[in-house]
Amino acid sequence: MGLYFAKFSAFGSYAPAKILTNQDLEKMVDTSDEWIRTRTGMVERHIASKEEAASDLAYQAALNAIEASQVRYKEIDLIIVATISGDYPFPSTACIIQHKLGLKNIPAFDISAGCTGFIYACDVARQYIENGIARHILVIGVEIVTKITNWTDRNTCVLFGDASGAAVISRSEPTDISRIIDTKIDADGSQGNFLMQAAGGSRLPASHETVDANQHTVYMEGNRIFKNAIKSMYASSDELLRRNNLSPADLDWVIPHQANLRIIKALADKMKVPMSKVIVNIQKYGNTSSATVPLATDEAIRSKKIRRGDIMLLTSFGAGLTWGSVLARY
Ligand code: UT7
Repeated sequence: MGLYFAKFSAFGSYAPAKILTNQDLEKMVDTSDEWIRTRTGMVERHIASKEEAASDLAYQAALNAIEASQVRYKEIDLIIVATISGDYPFPSTACIIQHKLGLKNIPAFDISAGCTGFIYACDVARQYIENGIARHILVIGVEIVTKITNWTDRNTCVLFGDASGAAVISRSEPTDISRIIDTKIDADGSQGNFLMQAAGGSRLPASHETVDANQHTVYMEGNRIFKNAIKSMYASSDELLRRNNLSPADLDWVIPHQANLRIIKALADKMKVPMSKVIVNIQKYGNTSSATVPLATDEAIRSKKIRRGDIMLLTSFGAGLTWGSVLARY
């Protein structure tokens, strides 16, 4: 038990302007609008321009979140960015954001947990708030997966889009109804090779061969991931509910990772939560990896679906393999 409680002060998001539709993809690989819709629920996705890097999307999402939070820039104590497609292997995208925001003398670091990155970042931020080290933390999920996509592989290239979602996580004052109730993160490194970017690290440094073999792009065994996704998002969500003496019926909203509408429906079914309580925007954005959860949450708040005091469960799953959930009263 920490000294304080943490809360979500506000969310923000940003997606690049360019849209790629299923029909556009039909012209690029052997696929069909019908296959993509029925197998994934996706209709279109946003794609970053040649000039846009992760920090450009993250900066816009951060501005939106900070504005909505009414926290002053100078009050931010820490920046955490969850990404697997940052501007550079190093320095971290979080340090670039710190500079773009004109902030100095605050720590900034990235977290690599694939599509679970935002959930991991919330878990870490919560610890800093609860033990009194930080009062306001900027947490961002940002991804430009389309720049590490093999555009000749129909198994993966139809799935991803680019976006960023951000949140300001703050100390919850005693009078606040808003509170992060609990978080749970988990991993199973034995399954890491089902979803990875094989080259570009110290195992397989960049070479002409790795580029020719498309090893700098996303490799995914979709079927294996599919089954794990439902099982693990359910496991972390169920544990959070149980250890806080809550049942799925107590939830106002579930905001799951937007990787596949069939996964989302199967999770809702397993949790016995009606789809009317599940936030879905996969049709507009595709899978934006670590950005899906904060992006969907931000949209639902701005459209006045999620209101202050609502109990929400954020849950995700991704490379590592990693998974986790956040239970919060907004
Ligand atoms: O966010 C990180 C975590 N990622 C995920 O959670 C992704 C989880 N996995 C999935 O969402 C699904 O497994 C996919 C959407 C990736 C694939 O759906 P699936 O129902 O598992 O399809 P499949 O991989 O079993 O493939 C079925 C068929 C295959 O053809 P054959 O071998 O049966 O003739 C594929 O070649 O569908 C074919 N296929 C396609 N056909 C048209 C695969 N991709 C496409 C495509 N268009 N884009």
